[in-house]
Amino acid sequence: MTILVTGANGQLGNEIRIVCKGSKDRYIFTDVVEVDGQETTILDITNFAAIQKIVSDNDVKVIVNCAAWTNVDAAETAGEIVETLNATAPENLAKAMKEVNGLLVHVSTDYVFGGDPYNTPCKENQKGTPTGVYGLTKLHGEQNIQNTGVDYLIFRTAWLYSEFGKNFVKTMLNLTSTKPQLKVVFDQTGTPTYAFDLAKTLFDIIENRKFEGKTGIYHYSNEGVCSWYDFTKMIAEYAGNDNCEILPCHSDEFLSPVKRPAYSVLDKTKVKETFGIRIPYWTDSLKICVKNIKGIK
Ligand SMILES: NC(=O)c1ccc[n+]([C@@H]2O[C@H](COP(=O)([O-])OP(=O)(O)OC[C@H]3O[C@@H](n4cnc5c(N)ncnc54)[C@H](OP(=O)(O)O)[C@@H]3O)[C@@H](O)[C@H]2O)c1
Repeated sequence: MTILVTGANGQLGNEIRIVCKGSKDRYIFTDVVEVDGQETTILDITNFAAIQKIVSDNDVKVIVNCAAWTNVDAAETAGEIVETLNATAPENLAKAMKEVNGLLVHVSTDYVFGGDPYNTPCKENQKGTPTGVYGLTKLHGEQNIQNTGVDYLIFRTAWLYSEFGKNFVKTMLNLTSTKPQLKVVFDQTGTPTYAFDLAKTLFDIIENRKFEGKTGIYHYSNEGVCSWYDFTKMIAEYAGNDNCEILPCHSDEFLSPVKRPAYSVLDKTKVKETFGIRIPYWTDSLKICVKNIKGIK
């Protein structure tokens, strides 16, 4: 079977490159640009005809969509491109898979929630109440996919980090090693997700054909719960950055173009029961990633 990965130069895409080595399937890695040292086929997912061509030329039966507009703050002012990339492009991919009776594996976000006040973990069927353009366009993407009638798996994930690209872990590794003091918000609660763990789960589902008859939305983050403050404390601890005083603060101390969810913990019961997976605790995965980034053995 041939599997096409979009956005393969991003955080999740790069982790999929790692976990699928040795697969019995053929993987094609695509992105809008090539990056040195990476085998990448150019594919712009806003171009429907280009998607149809690569699917037909290679007999693609599964698309894993890791491409998206992921800059939450910039989404507020970036205009049409955010909806095009997060909502219309996933619809393109879904239509292309529908035409060949294939499967679309798509990644969405906890930021589809946040507008309503709640303090229990979000289940898959909870109403989407996004607070900003990013969350709204990602919600539209989910709805567009569902409306095509394609077989799909949508994985909503949260607070994604990895060794690749820009992310919160890398930013905090830098700040806690260079600043004597740092304020981090403690009034937003969620769960970090090591992109490697999510990639392994997606790979397991595809490699072992666990997706048959499992169309639906699933929640996936690491296990446990923390605030951005707790997250930062553990990043600094695992990196041995002892000289930075990390202080908790409220969200309103930072000017932000978009209000982020105060509580966006994802309930992962469905993904665990459906696919028989175990999910690592967030600090265990964070420790591994920090070591990898710092090159500590
Ligand atoms: N990051 C998070 O904290 C987070 C949290 C929850 C959910 N998610 C979701 O998880 C998924 C993966 O996120 P990520 O952090 O791995 O994303 P990422 O690192 O930003 O990677 C996205 C990739 O998509 C590429 N891309 C942009 N426009 C494209 C186009 N028109 N056609 C094809 N590729 C295009 C980007 O290329 P350029 O860099 O050249 O633009 C980039 O390589 C996304 O669906 C995201 O919404 C992320």
